[in-house]
Amino acid sequence: MTDRQLVLNLFSPPFEAWRQPDVDTGRAWSIDALVRLAQDAERALFDAIFLADSPSLGEGYTTPEPFTVLSVIAAHTTYLGLAPTILTTYSEPYNTARKIATLDQLTGGRVGWNAVTGSQPSVAPNFGPTAHPEHALRYERGEEYIEIVKALWDSWEPDAFVAGPWPTATLDHGKIHPVPFRGKHFQLDALFNVPRSPQGRPVIFHAGSSDTGRDQGARHADAIFTAQPTIEAAREFYQDFKRRVAGFGRNPAHALVLPGILPIIGSTEAEAQAALDAFNANVDLDQAIVRLHHQIGLDVRGLDLDAPIPAAVWDAAGQSFTSRAAVMRAEAEQGGYTARQVVLRATAAFGHHLIVGTPEQVADDIELWFRTGAADGFNYRIPGGREPLEQFINHVLPLLQGKGIFRKEYTARTLRGHYGLPVPPR
Ligand SMILES: Cc1cc2nc3c(=O)[nH]c(=O)nc-3n(C[C@H](O)[C@H](O)[C@H](O)COP(=O)(O)O)c2cc1C
Repeated sequence: MTDRQLVLNLFSPPFEAWRQPDVDTGRAWSIDALVRLAQDAERALFDAIFLADSPSLGEGYTTPEPFTVLSVIAAHTTYLGLAPTILTTYSEPYNTARKIATLDQLTGGRVGWNAVTGSQPSVAPNFGPTAHPEHALRYERGEEYIEIVKALWDSWEPDAFVAGPWPTATLDHGKIHPVPFRGKHFQLDALFNVPRSPQGRPVIFHAGSSDTGRDQGARHADAIFTAQPTIEAAREFYQDFKRRVAGFGRNPAHALVLPGILPIIGSTEAEAQAALDAFNANVDLDQAIVRLHHQIGLDVRGLDLDAPIPAAVWDAAGQSFTSRAAVMRAEAEQGGYTARQVVLRATAAFGHHLIVGTPEQVADDIELWFRTGAADGFNYRIPGGREPLEQFINHVLPLLQGKGIFRKEYTARTLRGHYGLPVPPR
């Protein structure tokens, strides 16, 4: 067994993208189905379940609010980490710090927070008359926001909460420190009302890929999510990110790099390829094109779908989620993809790493990324219904365990513990 263990999170199930005959898209709103999914992940010893979010009506898909879903899942699981997304542009730091810290207390330290600025401009009108702030401003607010949340979480000394029957004092007020903050976006004098986390501090996730985004992640995050379609791109990101972490005086081993993977498994290569072909055959191309435009501003309507996307069309892709458009453009140019192939790959993997093969090929690929500086672990994205998850659990995970890179039992109760991350000093 090597000491370093692979991290595996279950990624938001892409229910709507997978319009397969056997997939019930209503599952997105069925708490029974979501709890079953989380329990499957826990039985398979996954580290955590991560839910992305966008508080807006997307093109053809709806998403339940992740914190609420994960609060219910918390009550039906024992070990599984819980990582909801809350946007820093469209919420308040005190509320976020309190909600995350509360769930973290209630679960004995299983919670993290995916701190993203928000990639979808369509969110803005839901919160006020102003437009989606431009990139630099979003990150400026995000920076203050994350600093406040961390300060609130650190404002209680570990022994400030003294449990005991009334009228014994339950709080040592001298060990609860005020958090004054004077920034451009926030001015507050806060006094936090949740005791220190059982894992020291809830885990902070980040998912920025731009220069500013990478720096913010490197400064604050315990783990960074990323979309990297190829091992070369992933290695470049990994090196760049770890260098930035070290540049902020942090230990690079304490900030995990977690790209997304979408494995399509068959007992033979041909079977796996047939599964991908079947998926592609079921995609509603018109709807997928509209969704892609909504998600990253790439507009291929009216183009010849069997030719590459012209540079000018890529150049015109929206100003909001430029980092993902750049990843997908590089993938398309490297692979020589037509517009149709770009749309189909985006529908399946959205810039994440698509692996099509036998269980052995999938496990070898995961090991290669893990051992050669491309990833510390992955967000595993389920292709379609429950069956592909079972295939992954039953046929790929045992191979990873055999390679000594994935746990055979939980050895910790907190999310930090699963990740092998130390409790941060106050
Ligand atoms: C795995 C992953 C998950 C993400 N989840 C969300 C999300 O739930 N909501 C969101 O608005 N953006 C999400 N993002 C987007 C980024 O957090 C960020 O908003 C976007 O990348 C723009 O910042 P950038 O230019 O620094 O990359 C995610 C990105 C990645 C790689």
